[in-house]
Amino acid sequence: MIGVLGGYGAVGAAATLLLAGRAARVRVGGRDGAAARRFVAGALGGEGEAWQVDAFDPDALARFCRGCQVVVNCAGPSYLLRDRVARAAFEEGADYVDAAGDAASFAGLAATGTGGRTAVISAGMLPGLTGLLPRHLAALSSAHSGPAVRLDVYTGGLDRLTPAAAGDFLLAGAEERGAALAGWRDGGKVARALTPAHDVELPYFPGPVTAYPYLSAEAERVAADLGLAEARWYNVIAGDRVLATASTATSAADLARVAELELAGRTPYYVLLFQLSGPHNTSTLVVRTADSYALTAAVTAHAARAVLAGEVPDGLHHADAVLDPARMLADLEGVATAEITDAVAPIDLAAPAFEEGAL
Ligand SMILES: NC(=O)c1ccc[n+]([C@@H]2O[C@H](COP(=O)([O-])OP(=O)(O)OC[C@H]3O[C@@H](n4cnc5c(N)ncnc54)[C@H](OP(=O)(O)O)[C@@H]3O)[C@@H](O)[C@H]2O)c1
Repeated sequence: MIGVLGGYGAVGAAATLLLAGRAARVRVGGRDGAAARRFVAGALGGEGEAWQVDAFDPDALARFCRGCQVVVNCAGPSYLLRDRVARAAFEEGADYVDAAGDAASFAGLAATGTGGRTAVISAGMLPGLTGLLPRHLAALSSAHSGPAVRLDVYTGGLDRLTPAAAGDFLLAGAEERGAALAGWRDGGKVARALTPAHDVELPYFPGPVTAYPYLSAEAERVAADLGLAEARWYNVIAGDRVLATASTATSAADLARVAELELAGRTPYYVLLFQLSGPHNTSTLVVRTADSYALTAAVTAHAARAVLAGEVPDGLHHADAVLDPARMLADLEGVATAEITDAVAPIDLAAPAFEEGAL
């Protein structure tokens, strides 16, 4: 039995559909029992269990986790739920996969441990694929052209914001979990090293965009693990309304409405673009999708299947550090396209701003 909390939300519904039948029986939970029942009766053709459960009700959460081999958390915002679902899963003897998590739950879980169970967090697109794919590119590149020196990452596009994702967007910003405008140089984080680039054209992005430098906890981890001399990570925004509203929005619902307005009459898309440069050449890996939530769900379902199959060791892991990138890419077929090429010229948006230090 796999329990999917938030199993009728955007990520949860798509992940449940990928898991149902293929891996195990599924249990779908959320605060709205009727919505869970409708989803199981409709999308799953009655093949699954529908549960009404609020993650903030410890008894109900424990009952939901009881009897599950793996609990998949697709409820959110993860900055509100933190590690409570994971801890309930461990208490009931279940392993755990989280579509989000990262900084929001890692510290708590690292402190308390997993009680011998397996936990894979950050098992989505961003974070998740955004950490896994640079590692993949680095492994491929070092095989034929020496060690990587510099990584440039551009991720973003145009998509709706669900209630939980909008909540995480606001809460993550408020907690300052990553560092805006920071870059990675000489093996370490450099504050205010980069500046936003407005109205720029980037390969694979269909129109002009704003590229906003942001060094996340995942980005720092990857840059350190790969021993990169330099790395630049940009959030790419196809319309400036969401960015402008993010600092003033008072609720997730407001932000979600602005994203909806931004999308009106336009075609949603999302691009993950990685460029890795070594001494002799630059390799580019690009993943494109029309639905970032379906792509996240494909990653989450892949992680859940890997855990269920016993392929992930006990303990707490970030998805990007423990999953197999080649198998992951194969599992994304139908949801996203992936391409690796040496034919794209290196992109350089970095106009030097100023650095911390003394004159
Ligand atoms: N890593 C990535 O790339 C990535 C991408 C997209 C989303 N995410 C993350 O994935 C999570 C889900 O996002 P989503 O887009 O699927 O959101 P969503 O469409 O808003 O769905 C959230 C689901 O969780 C349920 N839920 C909310 N609060 C709950 C609670 N207290 N107890 C039980 N269930 C609860 C909701 O149902 P009810 O409201 O009826 O309870 C709904 O089914 C979020 O944390 C989001 O930030 C990660």
